[in-house]
Amino acid sequence: MKINKKTSALLSMIGIVIIGLGLYAFKAHPESKANYTAQPRWENLEVLPQDISKDSLEHLMKNYATSLGVKCNYCHTPSQDDPTELDFPSDDKIEKEIARGMIKMTNEINATYFQPYFPDPKPKQVHVANCVMCHRGATNPEKYLSQMGQMYKTYEADRDNRKEKILEQQQKE
Ligand code: HEC
Ligand code: HEC
Repeated sequence: MKINKKTSALLSMIGIVIIGLGLYAFKAHPESKANYTAQPRWENLEVLPQDISKDSLEHLMKNYATSLGVKCNYCHTPSQDDPTELDFPSDDKIEKEIARGMIKMTNEINATYFQPYFPDPKPKQVHVANCVMCHRGATNPEKYLSQMGQMYKTYEADRDNRKEKILEQQQKE
């Protein structure tokens, strides 16, 4: 009898400790609230979402710079107070405004021609077309497109007369 009483007392004590630990785990830790950083307030976004996180915005910006083979200052003007810093919200540079149009265009291409064909799991996350697809590390794709002539073999009628043969065939029919 004595042993049984002791055992049950011990068991209920263990039970209380377990419940206590469980409750402690559910209790909000006050220090985690202090570490919480509020969503940054961007000053001058016209095309990107207002509530875009710092990580996502920085990721996009680095992506733009790499795609065009430039640094941040290609689109962002130096700060008037401190010329060693960039004034990111400023709209002084035309390149930034052109980039806004390019972002809209790229979003539209994805939304119209890619997202409808990828219904799962998150169609809005589908970004197939992007800056580097056209830019390939150049600010103006014409830089490499002007060399297109060298990339294709020129058509030589005497060596390859497929077109003429097709035309002849069509005329006979
Ligand atoms: C090809 C042009 C381009 C390049 C290169 C570029 N940005 Fe941007 N950046 C933009 C555009 C366009 C916006 C505004 C987007 C909008 O209107 O929604 C912007 C906005 C920002 C903002 C938000 C400013 C605000 O509060 O309104 C920050 C911060 C920023 N860029 C940082 C950077 C950094 C850092 C780099 C270099 C790693 C960089 N950008 C490179 C075009 C560029
Ligand atoms: C469908 C192809 C295509 C895509 C995608 C594209 N661009 Fe462009 N972009 C061009 C072409 C072509 C030009 C040159 C237009 C001209 O001046 O004739 C250009 C010009 C620019 C310029 C001006 C360059 C200069 O100094 O003349 C900027 C800045 C730019 N693009 C940024 C971007 C960014 C940022 C993205 C991604 C969000 C992007 N582009 C996506 C085709 C594209």
